[in-house]
Amino acid sequence: MAKVWLTGGTGYIGSHTYVDLLEGGHTVFSTDDYSNSSPEVLENITAITGKEANNYEVDICDLEALEAVIQSEGKIDAVIHFAAFKAVGESVEQPLKYFKNNLVGLIHVLEMCKRYAISHMIYSSSCTVYGNPKELPVTEDTPILPAASPYGLTKQMGEDIILSSLMDAGIGSVLLRYFNPAGAHESGKIGEDPRNAALNLVPVITETAIGKRKEMAVFGSDYPTRDGTCVRDYIHVSDLARAHTLALEYALEHVPSGSWDVFNLGVEQGVTVLEAIQAFERVSGQKLNYKMGPRRPGDVVAIFADASKARDRLGWVPLRDIREIMRTAWEWEKVRSR
Ligand SMILES: NC(=O)c1ccc[n+]([C@@H]2O[C@H](COP(=O)([O-])OP(=O)(O)OC[C@H]3O[C@@H](n4cnc5c(N)ncnc54)[C@H](O)[C@@H]3O)[C@@H](O)[C@H]2O)c1
Repeated sequence: MAKVWLTGGTGYIGSHTYVDLLEGGHTVFSTDDYSNSSPEVLENITAITGKEANNYEVDICDLEALEAVIQSEGKIDAVIHFAAFKAVGESVEQPLKYFKNNLVGLIHVLEMCKRYAISHMIYSSSCTVYGNPKELPVTEDTPILPAASPYGLTKQMGEDIILSSLMDAGIGSVLLRYFNPAGAHESGKIGEDPRNAALNLVPVITETAIGKRKEMAVFGSDYPTRDGTCVRDYIHVSDLARAHTLALEYALEHVPSGSWDVFNLGVEQGVTVLEAIQAFERVSGQKLNYKMGPRRPGDVVAIFADASKARDRLGWVPLRDIREIMRTAWEWEKVRSR
């Protein structure tokens, strides 16, 4: 069993991974400054797992404060680095904020690996690195295309920074390229709870259904897809969390210092925006108030994963489909709107 440091462990994907790691018997602590999460998440992780969850409220860009925490924790086997800002639109308006937080933060985490002999890093990357791919599904060998936003650029640069620093930092690393994480924990106790207005399709759907928004727009109905709307590969956050535990265990055993590996994490099924809406309407029994709108600049037409590598090497099998995503997201929306 490993001792694992999560950066951003009270965030959306971090909190589900925290649960999965505790359930797998690992020892876990988090550093999260709550810039996009809250301390209540810890109680809910404990309520789900029956185990204590611990977060240090520290900004990873503050090297001195970060080092004090890492020093106090003693031997750490691996870090899973989630902490980053992720709002694409905001990154276009405030690129420096994103470069600073996502890149300086990463460099500090690598520095901690070097100083405190943390031998492995799992990194949250994204399918945005593939841009608007020419061929589907995308494999890990699909070419990386120029980033469409400063956020996307931080993910690409993050990968490059890690791969260039493996020897210096003394780590083996696994890059995980997520497709579209969505849904919430089965318990209804944790889920996506952003500080700012939601931008991703699934929370926009549930916020519209519960009345937080009067209506929602479907951006573009004339794309060259089966119903004219964009295609994405929605992956349930609990399946994604499981993949982190498997990737961690794989890294500790098979990825020695100075080497790396990369995995796509998606369910290998493209779902259109209209199909996602229909899935929501079916599981919730609610009619959604949406209207067709113009295309949104920067949106990729269609993307879905070939995740056979994760299946073969990690033994990862995603168990939940778009209906389960919508069902849990809807339950979570009702809980967080109380
Ligand atoms: N959710 C997605 O759609 C998606 C897709 C692909 C990749 N990713 C990546 O996965 C990671 C986790 O995403 P998420 O959806 O859980 O986001 P999230 O915002 O819910 O979680 C990130 C957490 O990091 C914390 N944080 C941010 N900057 C920090 C700092 N400087 N110091 C300390 N804590 C800090 C936030 O408070 C938050 O709790 C991010 O790196 C994101 O870029 C997310």
